[in-house]
Amino acid sequence: MTDTGQPRSSVYGLRSAQEGWREGVACDLRMIRSINVRKVYRQGRNEITALAGVSLDIPKGEFAVIMGPSGSGKSTLLHLIGGLDRPTQGEVLVDGRIISQMPDDEVTLFRRSKIGFIFQFFNLLPTLTAEENVILPLVLDGRPTVQTKTRAEMLLERVGLAARKDHLPEELSGGEIQRLAIARALVFNPPILLADEPTGNLDSKTGGAILELIRNINQEEDCTVVMVTHNREAAGCGDRIIYLKDGMIEEGRP
Ligand SMILES: Nc1ncnc2c1ncn2[C@@H]1O[C@H](COP(=O)(O)OP(=O)(O)OP(=O)(O)O)[C@@H](O)[C@H]1O
Ligand SMILES: [Mg+2]
Repeated sequence: MTDTGQPRSSVYGLRSAQEGWREGVACDLRMIRSINVRKVYRQGRNEITALAGVSLDIPKGEFAVIMGPSGSGKSTLLHLIGGLDRPTQGEVLVDGRIISQMPDDEVTLFRRSKIGFIFQFFNLLPTLTAEENVILPLVLDGRPTVQTKTRAEMLLERVGLAARKDHLPEELSGGEIQRLAIARALVFNPPILLADEPTGNLDSKTGGAILELIRNINQEEDCTVVMVTHNREAAGCGDRIIYLKDGMIEEGRP
């Protein structure tokens, strides 16, 4: 309860809607919510329970890190938050909207405006240059050419790739490809960034630079970040670590 005698959640809800009020990361502008989410994959007669009832809240502006053993459901959870897949049961809310129930065409538009993805298998197009890869989503969105070029240049500058704008992905190093993926993820200035092992396969120096970039975006643009990582050092960049095990949140981990 609060000093106004109201349950804290209702005060938070009211204020967050009206004033964008916040109190550090303890605020309740819940940008991402999963409510008892289950995901069961069927393969022939087999059922694989990837998520077995996950409930979590991620406030606006938080940098949340998801850790857990291989196969514990981390990528599955990120896919559901990003509206790339739907839960078998439960709901996923993003910025107050129930993304898990949106029709496909609506979810595509919603995703474009709200979420940037840094996924290893979210491939960059190999025949396009770095700049063209960043421009492509804007062109597909019908933005005027001048605007798209300026935006791409600004983003490539931001991730330190201005000098590599005419390189094809195969002409870039691993760290540069990851930075290019970040530039493309930021193209619509999304309030949410989802990253699945963004430093996987990178040496620690390059990985550190990627993490710093993500952290800067989180802090400077109040962008809510959910990052999956196996790396404890990388996890230290976040505000909070959520541990998954066997498709469930492991409570009580330090
Ligand atoms: N499309 C799919 N069809 C069937 N099973 C799947 C599918 N995707 C994932 N799974 C299974 O669901 C479980 C969770 O997978 P998920 O990819 O979420 O794990 P993860 O925690 O990201 O693992 P890793 O750290 O290895 O990336 C695994 O047992 C996996 O084999
Ligand atoms: Mg994974």
